[in-house]
Amino acid sequence: MTILVTGGAGYIGSHTLLYLKQKNESFVVLDSLQTGHRKAVEGTTFYEGDLADADLLDKIFTENEISAVIHFAADSLVGESMKDPLKYYENNVIGSYQLIKKAVEHEVKKFVFSSTAATYGEPESVPITEDFPTIPTNPYGETKLAIEKMLKWADAAYGLKSICLRYFNAAGADPEGSIGEDHQPESHLIPIVLQVALGQREHVSMFGDDYPTEDGTCIRDYIHVLDLAQAHYLALQRLEGEGVSGVYNLGNGNGFSVKQVIETCKAVTGIDIKSLTAPRRTGDPAVLIASSNKARTELGWNPDYSRLDTMVTHAWNWHRNHPNGYDD
Ligand code: UFG
Repeated sequence: MTILVTGGAGYIGSHTLLYLKQKNESFVVLDSLQTGHRKAVEGTTFYEGDLADADLLDKIFTENEISAVIHFAADSLVGESMKDPLKYYENNVIGSYQLIKKAVEHEVKKFVFSSTAATYGEPESVPITEDFPTIPTNPYGETKLAIEKMLKWADAAYGLKSICLRYFNAAGADPEGSIGEDHQPESHLIPIVLQVALGQREHVSMFGDDYPTEDGTCIRDYIHVLDLAQAHYLALQRLEGEGVSGVYNLGNGNGFSVKQVIETCKAVTGIDIKSLTAPRRTGDPAVLIASSNKARTELGWNPDYSRLDTMVTHAWNWHRNHPNGYDD
């Protein structure tokens, strides 16, 4: 079986490649390198190009006898999606439409899709289970939900079996330090806090301290990027075995506030990290915590690195040794 991994040069994609290598799986990678990094796919069979390029997809499916797809490639910034929703519809929805169409044409039957907790919007309670209403509050979540629905109907009509994985907040890096997180510009909390520790920023802004939480800052469920990678591998196995489509949350079921994350980063780095209160960021729900019982029971998912300080330690290891990311 050869797997096509789209977006394999990105943060979660590249860690999944690492995991697939450890499991001796055979794969090829498609990435436009708009946000991904060439260095993250060194030594792999790599195609540089766009999801919407039908000829390129035909070539990849034919040359490699692809029998499964893991689809990461997407624009994934909530804030940017509010400012430029059509970019998200074009790259995420239209790009995925082309990929799904080609997968069907080439008789692929297994598809794992990188979805998001942003499909839920502002939940009425936590922990969030997969049967909660999906009412996205931003175009990013809306486009991911549209792709989930496209996959549902592609299963019903063409027998393309799919597993959609709704990630909560990805964090950490390869414990061996070979790859890590490198976004330009960076918008995620943990790497920003670590940039302050590295002296690359003067302070971190805490977006809002008046949320209805214990310390007033937003609470998120952080999950190690290699635990996400494990789930993709298990999802493929379930599609191989049971062959049943499904949607699964991936989180640890523990919430940490922005203040708690900053305190953890201080403890791990031993550096006093300056933080200032700033206005709320639009579209941020107060609390997002996952129930991942379904993934544990049905996929046999068992996270290896569920502690926040472990995630921060691995992230710190990468950022300290690569202060300029892959440019180092
Ligand atoms: N935050 C700050 N200061 C910063 C950056 C972030 O206070 O400089 C806060 C945010 O307001 C939020 C929390 O830290 O409360 C986490 O923010 P991130 O930007 O790291 O992550 P998000 O929760 O906004 O989004 C992430 C992914 C999305 C995904 C979502 C699902 O980036 O793609 O999780 O929960 F949709």
